[in-house]
Amino acid sequence: MNLAPVTLRRLIAAALAARRHAHAPYSRFRVGAALLTASGKIYTGVNVENASYGLTICAERIAVGKAVSNGHCRFRAIAIAAPSAQPTPCGACRQVLAEFGDCLVICVDSRRPRRVWLHQLSELLPHAFRL
Ligand code: THU
Repeated sequence: MNLAPVTLRRLIAAALAARRHAHAPYSRFRVGAALLTASGKIYTGVNVENASYGLTICAERIAVGKAVSNGHCRFRAIAIAAPSAQPTPCGACRQVLAEFGDCLVICVDSRRPRRVWLHQLSELLPHAFRL
């Protein structure tokens, strides 16, 4: 699954920009996600933490919820930006993304120098659970 370099850059920029709106007062770990639909739209998400820690929602799942609730269920790629040497979607988010099929997962270290890793979701979560 290939993305045009310009689209890749746009998606990464959207994930990095979204990070600014993360609600992460407890972990201070701000995550931004940008989900590219099959029709070319981008839906962003941020992590939304809660004083009751377990209610925290990851950035990826917010982006999926926004896309699906706007009628988009086919995804080409998701970019995830976080201040980590090895940014990667958590297991729950992998399963939620796998619900809608395979896609490219672009992981971005939001710190400088910015580093980018490309994965296929099907490699990050082989044998995803399905009914
Ligand atoms: N987080 C995400 O937003 N996405 C992930 O895939 C992993 C973790 C958030 C949840 C929490 O607000 C913070 O990162 C630290 O775990």
